[in-house]
Amino acid sequence: MAADVNTEITFNSARMWFPIIINTVMSIVAYLATVRIIPGIKDKFIKANLFGIDMSKTTSEKVPESLGVISGCSFLVTMFLFIPIPFGNSLFNGDFPHDEFVELIAALLSICCMLLLGFADDVLDLRWRHKLLLPTIASLPLLMVYYVNFNSTTIVVPKPFRDFFGFSVDIGLLYYVYMGMLAVFCTNAINILAGVNGLETGQSVVIALSIIIFNVMELNGALWKAHLFSLYFMLPYTATTLALLKHNWYPSKVFVGDTFCYFSGMTFAVVGILGHFSKTTLLFFIPQVFNFLYSSPQLFRLIPCPRHRLPRFNSKTDCMEISTTVFKYSELNLLGKFVISLFRMFRLIRWQETKDGCVITNNLTLINLVLLYLGPLHEAKLTSVLIAIQVFFTGVAFVIRYPLASIFYDV
Ligand code: UD1
Ligand code: MG
Repeated sequence: MAADVNTEITFNSARMWFPIIINTVMSIVAYLATVRIIPGIKDKFIKANLFGIDMSKTTSEKVPESLGVISGCSFLVTMFLFIPIPFGNSLFNGDFPHDEFVELIAALLSICCMLLLGFADDVLDLRWRHKLLLPTIASLPLLMVYYVNFNSTTIVVPKPFRDFFGFSVDIGLLYYVYMGMLAVFCTNAINILAGVNGLETGQSVVIALSIIIFNVMELNGALWKAHLFSLYFMLPYTATTLALLKHNWYPSKVFVGDTFCYFSGMTFAVVGILGHFSKTTLLFFIPQVFNFLYSSPQLFRLIPCPRHRLPRFNSKTDCMEISTTVFKYSELNLLGKFVISLFRMFRLIRWQETKDGCVITNNLTLINLVLLYLGPLHEAKLTSVLIAIQVFFTGVAFVIRYPLASIFYDV
């Protein structure tokens, strides 16, 4: 009996580690290939009119834009080649796990769809409302497979509220709305915390590594299959994004485009939803959640929002400074006045009044807030500080997820 259990454990861990090792090797190959492909292909992007001007440099060289499509394609190719690996054994012994297979395929379909839509956005420069619609559409295959495979829409109630709501509540359709919104949030949140060299890729690598650490910690738990599934995606994602980061770091040789932000956000949403750890995924987005909330007065046009909110480059000092927006306080609506006063009270904005009754404040982004407190910084330093903030909040996320969560849930 004991021998049986031991054999079972050895078999399970072999079944678990074999695909991970293959996946890791494939990811390393994908990294090496992507690092080489990007410099070779970037001129083709400029020829196709896909380029931007780096606003924080003295030269106005054309920098190829949307190179996220290359790292995204490398990721997809790696995943496509990987598909047979976890299922190889089951093909021959007749117990093929169709549900797991369909999950993998649907997840890849959603990510692939988002990569296409993101690229369409870069080429066609879509409107703001499309940015909300596209991820919702791309998440439909994912929600469909969630419905067929799990359809679990109950949430566990935190301990202090159990007297009122009981142990768990079935929120039904609302759960699907929540998952759709998660996809919309993840895709846009990375895109609006952007504008300095290496930031989009840098923050994504930190989030991906945080998810990898979390998955590895949970591999011994009851939900090990879900965490294994997440690792299959996160390892090649991290590898291909690191390759992109190498070329996107200061001074950027390539820009990643909205393609990359959409593709990344969707990948995080997919593993969070199908891995059953969407709340923990959100915890790894704390800086992005803050940036979104802080930005909301501009995003919802309570105060004017210029096309670009990235910090202003000062060529004399070679440093980045706060970028600003101007408005008349009296022309704001009631909500706008309230929110701005609140920010002012908590010293979250720089407030400057001009003689003609206008107000000048910084653009409401986390990047500008960092500059407000630390003063002008060199661009590479600014990105490093923002990535350090992301790492710090990963630490906070783990503290919330493990020691603190036990106060509210039975984990
Ligand atoms: C989002 C932000 C915008 C920010 C922009 C920068 C919101 C609502 N939108 O817009 O405020 O200015 O991202 O990416 O918050 N660029 C640089 N250096 C970089 C990265 C980008 O100069 O390191 C410039 C280049 O000109 C590049 C352009 O930004 O071509 C890309 O901007 P795009 O991704 O089209 O902007 P949005 O995502 O619409
Ligand atoms: Mg963008």
